[in-house]
Amino acid sequence: MEEAGVMNVFFRVNDTLLTAPVSDRILDGVTRKSIIQFCEDQGINVEVRPVRVTEIVEAARKGELLEMFGAGTAAVVSVINAFSNKGENFELPKTENSFAATIKKGITDIQRKKAEDKFGWTYKVK
Ligand SMILES: Cc1ncc(COP(=O)(O)O)c(C=O)c1O
Repeated sequence: MEEAGVMNVFFRVNDTLLTAPVSDRILDGVTRKSIIQFCEDQGINVEVRPVRVTEIVEAARKGELLEMFGAGTAAVVSVINAFSNKGENFELPKTENSFAATIKKGITDIQRKKAEDKFGWTYKVK
């Protein structure tokens, strides 16, 4: 599981965020990189490794797949609420304290100068 449309994709299984490593198929997106850095700073565990469809389906069946979202410049974070695989439909649970919401707010607050940019992401365009 690598990309969703023109976004990198993230999966939250229990309290760990998974995303595929960049490759000749996976864009080294700036939002993906920012999310990984932001999560490391927030103490959210991120595993960058190949993510198999079977693993995600299994996690969904066990109720351990808590969130899925795409990441890209336009939307920052775009939540995926449901998916289907081989005719089986899965709906993700409503999650309080969602990682997606924390990440979106954290990154857009830095963009809008509502929060300190301790990562050095922002700079003046002359
Ligand atoms: C194939 C693909 N993946 C991921 C992304 C997201 O990249 P970024 O976060 O740099 O916008 C894009 C952006 O256009 C894309 O085209």
